[in-house]
Amino acid sequence: MDKLFSKVKTPIWFMRQAGRYLPEYKKLRSTEKTFLDLCFNSEKAAKISLQPIERFDLDFIILFSDILVVPHALGQRVDFKENIGPILEPINNKHDLNYKKITSNLKILDPVFKTIKLLKMKNRRKKVIGFCGGPFTVLTYMIEGGTSKGHEKVKLKVKREKKELLEMIEVLIEFSSLYLIEQIRSGADIVKIFESWASLLDKEEYFDFIIKPNMRILENIKNVFPNIPVACFPRRSGSQIFNFVKNVGCDIISLDEKFPEELLEIAKKKNIILQGNLNPKVLIQGGKKMEEEIKKILLRFNNNRHIFNLSHGILPQTPIANVEKTIKLIRDYDETR
Ligand code: CP3
Repeated sequence: MDKLFSKVKTPIWFMRQAGRYLPEYKKLRSTEKTFLDLCFNSEKAAKISLQPIERFDLDFIILFSDILVVPHALGQRVDFKENIGPILEPINNKHDLNYKKITSNLKILDPVFKTIKLLKMKNRRKKVIGFCGGPFTVLTYMIEGGTSKGHEKVKLKVKREKKELLEMIEVLIEFSSLYLIEQIRSGADIVKIFESWASLLDKEEYFDFIIKPNMRILENIKNVFPNIPVACFPRRSGSQIFNFVKNVGCDIISLDEKFPEELLEIAKKKNIILQGNLNPKVLIQGGKKMEEEIKKILLRFNNNRHIFNLSHGILPQTPIANVEKTIKLIRDYDETR
């Protein structure tokens, strides 16, 4: 794990570092009709993954793909509509999925594995991050049929159809574990589980739908690859984050904008690397406010092993100059330590 810190004091990458704020991304995006076609074109996906590295010399390459390739591989129809986001054919239970044919479903994701292999061939210096969505986060999209504000459907089902939902979670745990293991076999050096909607649940439900599934995926990965660092992003978990780190043996925790101060001490004791946590809106705003926030973050994490990142994905309106400035501020700060 210390290899992650071999070259720089504070390694930097940005959630969603490849994307619409980059003109070179938009150019390649326009050559494919659908977003999934782009994700499954390994040559183009590899080029896109490397665009932010070539432009900013960031310290990690993140695979260009999406968490919703998993429902697609399980037989659910997934479309990405411009200016709307993902649209999924809503389903109710695991019988609406092709959940039994794991090997042929995994084969549908071959282009993703090929993208990782290409990345390892094209850039031998930087570590490649593979990823999948957390089972509950993927489930919210599968049930709601897309991005949702209130998540009423899934919240109601957690209460009324817990057994059916947990059966779907089971399918997602099994499939996501094999998916990440295959990403590692293809060359991923680190894998990250994006549990972006962890905030919807509390207490026992948080345990059953967030902690247990993340724990199981981690165990499955570590059984095959004990030394591959696994990052978790249980976004906006509030005080549940303590239960999360107690139970899920992850190596890196990706932090949103608010987290309890005690987590810094716990992470240090448990040797967990912390990653975060500049608000992407501040990155848009730039100026003095951005500088102050970056300094605050660097000081706050000073005594921990820290990877600089955002608290959530970079937004399409982000000025490139602000990204450049952020990187410079962090690297200059490292020089003076
Ligand atoms: O970080 C990276 O650069 C790697 C690529 C990546 C994408 N999505 C590309 C993408 C990663 C790691 C993701 C993860 C992802 N996808 C998450 C978890 C992280 C988070 O943001 O909470 C989630 C919830 C999704 C689902 C998803 N994909 C949504 C809700 C949307 C629409 C909103 C949006 O930002 O457009 C997407 C589309 C998407 N995924 C785009 C990109 C570059 C934009 C598609 C386009 O170019 O039109």
